[in-house]
Amino acid sequence: MYDSFNTLKNDCLLCRRCGLCEGRTTVVFGTGNENSNILFIGEGPGEQEDLRAEPFVGRSGKLLDLYLNGIGLDRKKNIYIANIVKCRPPQNRDPLPQEQEECLFWLREQVRLMRPKIIVCLGRISAAKLISPQFKVTVDHGVFYDKKGILMMGTFHPAALLRDPRKKEDALEDFLKLKEQLEKIKAAQN
Ligand code: URA
Repeated sequence: MYDSFNTLKNDCLLCRRCGLCEGRTTVVFGTGNENSNILFIGEGPGEQEDLRAEPFVGRSGKLLDLYLNGIGLDRKKNIYIANIVKCRPPQNRDPLPQEQEECLFWLREQVRLMRPKIIVCLGRISAAKLISPQFKVTVDHGVFYDKKGILMMGTFHPAALLRDPRKKEDALEDFLKLKEQLEKIKAAQN
């Protein structure tokens, strides 16, 4: 158990808990404001993320930023972004269950220290791991589940939106629901 994000990050950067460490350039620990209420969780770093040590910096990251900015969120200011696995899987394959499980150690600590009020899972892998193994993005997207006091919602992975732009409207609705939830939280705090 860690008592600061910095010590957690320092140890995480040295991680060799699974085989993904062999092929990585960098560990993509996460980015943003760790004191914010809201945590976005993707699947794992791709090529650009592995090179730049930051999540969602490729094409799908640019699209994610559009959705975020559209509801007043900014990765540098008022959210935090991380992934289920912090090292790039070879050829961008899905992270294996054992890799996800090992890496969850770090994400659990991030969540424990951050104590976010809302977690948004970007895509199937993240939602299946954190919300329910049965999670189906096309059916269950945009629904908020209360898990031990944290509201959890799954939506489309931005890469899926790039592949199939017909899903963009549904994704926009999910982000508008998220905005509503954030406003409720703000109102309750005042
Ligand atoms: N896809 C993800 O799930 N995470 C990233 O950081 C980049 C692409």
